[in-house]
Amino acid sequence: MKEKNNIKQKLSELEGVSKTLESSTERRNMLNTLAFNYAERFYASMKQEAAYHSFDETVNDLLNIPLNEDGEGAEEAFSFIEEKIIRPGLNSASGRNFGYIPGSSLSIAAIGDYLAAVTNRYASVYSSSPGAVLLETQLVKWMADTVGYPSGSGGYLASGGSIANLTAVVTARDHARLKGEDFIRVVVYLTDQTHHCVDRALNISGLRECIRRYVPMDSAFRMIPGELDRQITEDKENGLIPWLIVASAGSTDSGAVDPLDKIGSIAQSHKLWFHVDAAYGGFFLLTDEGRNRMKGIELSDSVVLDPHKSLFLPYGTGALLVKDIVNLASSHAYNANYMKHAASDTGIYSPADISPELTKHFRAMRMWLPLKIHGVRVFRSALEEKLLLADYLWREFSTMNDIEVSPPPQLSIFLFRWVPEGGDHELLNRRLHDSLLRDGCVFLSTTEVYGKFYFRVAVLSAATHLEEAEIFVQTVKEKMAEIGR
Ligand SMILES: Cc1ncc(COP(=O)(O)O)c(C=O)c1O
Repeated sequence: MKEKNNIKQKLSELEGVSKTLESSTERRNMLNTLAFNYAERFYASMKQEAAYHSFDETVNDLLNIPLNEDGEGAEEAFSFIEEKIIRPGLNSASGRNFGYIPGSSLSIAAIGDYLAAVTNRYASVYSSSPGAVLLETQLVKWMADTVGYPSGSGGYLASGGSIANLTAVVTARDHARLKGEDFIRVVVYLTDQTHHCVDRALNISGLRECIRRYVPMDSAFRMIPGELDRQITEDKENGLIPWLIVASAGSTDSGAVDPLDKIGSIAQSHKLWFHVDAAYGGFFLLTDEGRNRMKGIELSDSVVLDPHKSLFLPYGTGALLVKDIVNLASSHAYNANYMKHAASDTGIYSPADISPELTKHFRAMRMWLPLKIHGVRVFRSALEEKLLLADYLWREFSTMNDIEVSPPPQLSIFLFRWVPEGGDHELLNRRLHDSLLRDGCVFLSTTEVYGKFYFRVAVLSAATHLEEAEIFVQTVKEKMAEIGR
């Protein structure tokens, strides 16, 4: 009896402390106000704030800031976030961010995320949260319709393009029933433009030793279908095992879209798995121009699209679609005693049954809410705008003196470099890049093509409009003039 009372006494003490985690209405209001005020300052300052804040090694002081036994004031925590955590480096959502694949910061998606975390639905299993699973299933169906996949297709919302590509590679491996002993004869067809995450996916999925055939590209960095066909035939004749073709629908470096229709029929005639990495380009399918460029994407067996790229959503939102969902399910089937009663006989696949994740973020909310509230048309217009802005910028750069540009953008990426007569181009372009970084008004990333330094211009932030594009051109011109002097 005494023991029981002691336990109760201890529990009551612990409860007194642990209940602090479940904040009161007043405290929630206070925290919400701090957070929303900060969010508002962030949005309101976006137009003036630098796209890039240079930083030095003092940023690493963050590592020395301990987490204390006793908590600290919320105000201090919020100003710390603002100054020390968010400020240094790239503001990926800035409208003057033209580097890498720009991100976005849609307030409606952030609110979706907030609600996802507040409600914390178990989005992996239908029997736990049918609403969350059905929301994801509906979004997957919408994406599959956009790609042109038939019924019977399916997929899931992943954390990003790398994991979605990995899941595709694993599914293709299992579909072909490849065994370890085959791996050294297995052949994958890709190009120099294929995102490195595909190479990494092959390594992770056990296929480090497989043969990678980098198919030659045309002058616009697109796979040459005739070369692909020739290579597959030759490999077959040599007793190898042609298995997987990976095409890009918007390569990261140059924005190239491989000729998907031609590659698709080659894949069909040789009976190879045809995967399309449309992580960057995928949602341009919502526009007529994008649809036209990516014709043939529906011939693929699997495709990756990243809503955190061309659907302007927060990072951590990728998607894999597989034409025959049974392939995805057989690769990811599992049996756990403690999950036995979770199975449903509705015919609806829980994300846990068709992906490597079990517990997962309730990602569908941040995607569904913006689509539901804004409607698809707004996204289509925003994407058309980005295509046109890229075209506008390409025209501006191609008429500038001493600038060499890549072929016109196939989607919203192109390359340029500064090539004044008699100058050391490599050095000048690097100096131009340093100077742009120091200034921070616009952000550009760089790449190397056939051994030469190039600037990449990627238009994809939701906040990039004509004004930002004009500031960008002006800033580059000013920096070139400064260096020239
Ligand atoms: C074409 C392409 N594929 C895959 C990826 C990898 O996606 P994530 O960064 O979401 O993992 C990227 C990232 O930029 C990409 O551009």
